[in-house]
Amino acid sequence: MINQKYLKIIFAALAILLLLVIVYVFQSMQDKEVKERPALRELAHKEGFYIGAAVNADYLDKDGLYRKTLDREVNMVTAENEMKFDVIHPEKYRYDFSKADKIVDFALKNRQKVRGHTLVWFHRIPEWLKKGRFSRDEMKLILKNHIQTVVGRYRGQVYAWDVVNEALNEDGSLRDSIWLRTIGPEYIPLAFKWAHEADPNALLFYNDYGIEGMNPKSNALYERLKQYKMNHVPIDGVGYQMHSWINRAIDFHDLKKSIDRLGGLGLQVQVTELDIGTAEPVQSSQSAKAKKQADYYAGALRTCLSSKACTAFVMWGITDKYTFRNKVEKPLIFDGTYKPKKSYWALFSTLENKKIEK
Ligand code: G3I
Repeated sequence: MINQKYLKIIFAALAILLLLVIVYVFQSMQDKEVKERPALRELAHKEGFYIGAAVNADYLDKDGLYRKTLDREVNMVTAENEMKFDVIHPEKYRYDFSKADKIVDFALKNRQKVRGHTLVWFHRIPEWLKKGRFSRDEMKLILKNHIQTVVGRYRGQVYAWDVVNEALNEDGSLRDSIWLRTIGPEYIPLAFKWAHEADPNALLFYNDYGIEGMNPKSNALYERLKQYKMNHVPIDGVGYQMHSWINRAIDFHDLKKSIDRLGGLGLQVQVTELDIGTAEPVQSSQSAKAKKQADYYAGALRTCLSSKACTAFVMWGITDKYTFRNKVEKPLIFDGTYKPKKSYWALFSTLENKKIEK
């Protein structure tokens, strides 16, 4: 006769087996669902359009689902931090391309375009540069060498560079930075010239936040770029960062107006860093917030697609698991377990249904 102890063991084993079967069936159903729907990148590709995400080399290394989701869904990636000055050029005579290489290799293997981010920024200045007390001529040489070494390494591999990032204040004046203080306002056109020399085929962008509407900053940028164009500065486009929140209204009419205005100068516009936080307002239900976020994503994509000048829509990440923002914001299109959110489906149907009037 089987004693009580053996019965317990048999029941426990059966329970574990049952659990494994349930997990397996659930996983297969999910896999089947994922295999059956087209990916965002396929829908975008049909329109000759890029849908992208910022990626992080450390997560690429350690998280298979992260790699799988990015590979499947996007045809453009941006290096979130790996090409920033202090990471890629930590000492005066030493570059570290290890993390940037990982992203470029991943993207090329998956037939994704790479956005290089970013060559010249007031932020992420390494200590050796901050403390160097270099003269104007030395700073020009340092910046030229930096740009040409980094752009040169990825010549033919990086499709577009954010050459200059966040160089303007809200009122449109030039933001204080080590580059402005030492080289003067010419650091901007010079940076574009040097980048163009290093890779004449790469698209060169100015990237900033708060320029997606019609306001003093976007007006000043427009005037500045008009001058640059007249002076043959090799600039191809403008990146709209668009980090936002569901409780901050966005005027899609102004968004279109500002894109078309830059398009009139012969410039492309790419949405480069979109994410939409949902923590506020606290009294709304989760489902109302998710819906509002989805409407926001769809509206931004629809507006971009409706303008000839807007050529890419890049989000600042792919999963809430790894947002750089406070986790409670849940600002991206996949949740922390890689389940597509309402915002994902909003992009999906916008790409699927929209007859693009380019
Ligand atoms: O350097 C440490 C590293 O040693 C440590 O392992 C790691 C652990 O968390 O922290 C590291 O520094 C962080 C760094 O990202 C990683 O490279 C910093 O604390 C953190 O402040 C930094 O934040 C990044 C931020 O730019 C500043 O560079 C965010 O990840 C990145 O998403 C954010 O991206 C910017 C765009 O470049 C420009 N537009 C705005 C956007 C959001 O702020």
